Amino acid sequence: MFNLMKYGAAVKRWLLFALLAAAAMAQLPLAHAEYGDIVINNYSDAAGMRPAVFPHWFHRIRFRCKVCHADLGFKFKAGGNDINMVKIIDGQYCGACHNGNIAWSVENCNLCHSGKPGTPTQAHLSSINSLVAPASAAPTPAPLQPKK
Ligand code: HEC
Ligand code: HEC
Ligand code: HEC
Repeated sequence: MFNLMKYGAAVKRWLLFALLAAAAMAQLPLAHAEYGDIVINNYSDAAGMRPAVFPHWFHRIRFRCKVCHADLGFKFKAGGNDINMVKIIDGQYCGACHNGNIAWSVENCNLCHSGKPGTPTQAHLSSINSLVAPASAAPTPAPLQPKK
């Protein structure tokens, strides 16, 4: 009996500690994915393409900062690199990797040009989901021709 009561007190003390810890954690600022998604829309909208979305966190866990911001010369500014398709196809910027070798290549237009039309250039801290246009808003692909 004595042992049980001792345990009871220990459980209560542990519960109190857990409550205090939870309360302390609730005060912490929310962690956000580092630089979330970068929307790049200097030219896309005007050219009739969806804005390009660069998922920074997705890339950042695969490569060191230096790879992009030193070796490939990306300036630390959303939209600050004057990127266009000629440069990409020439192997600069995104094209240094999206060349069918390190990553899938440039023909996959929609994988990069996936932003909701009209989204301005910005570093957006949300997950990619709130920026990418829902599938239903995308033009319906032509139906497959039945095999003859
Ligand atoms: C690896 C990512 C990526 C892929 C794949 C990609 N683009 Fe782009 N594209 C970009 C980025 C980044 C920009 C710069 C966006 C801006 O500033 O508006 C851009 C800009 C553009 C522009 C405007 C500037 C210019 O060069 O005229 C057009 C048009 C364009 N892309 C068309 C395409 C088409 C068509 C395809 C597929 C054949 C394609 N893109 C594939 C990343 C990509
Ligand atoms: C795979 C390439 C890549 C890697 C790795 C990478 N970045 Fe970036 N970063 C970019 C691109 C692309 C942009 C947007 C540039 C543009 O819009 O022209 C950017 C933008 C930024 C910005 C500007 C955001 C804003 O508010 O305008 C900062 C800060 C940044 N990166 C920091 C980092 C840090 C710190 C690391 C490493 C922990 C890192 N990046 C790793 C490609 C990368
Ligand atoms: C240092 C190399 C590197 C650079 C530079 C780079 N990427 Fe990527 N990217 C990758 C790799 C690797 C993947 C993963 C490919 C795979 O899963 O096959 C990827 C995947 C992606 C994806 C898909 C993310 C997902 O959720 O599957 C998008 C979108 C993308 N890149 C856009 C861009 C754009 C836009 C740029 C230029 C602003 C860029 N990338 C520059 C290496 C790079």
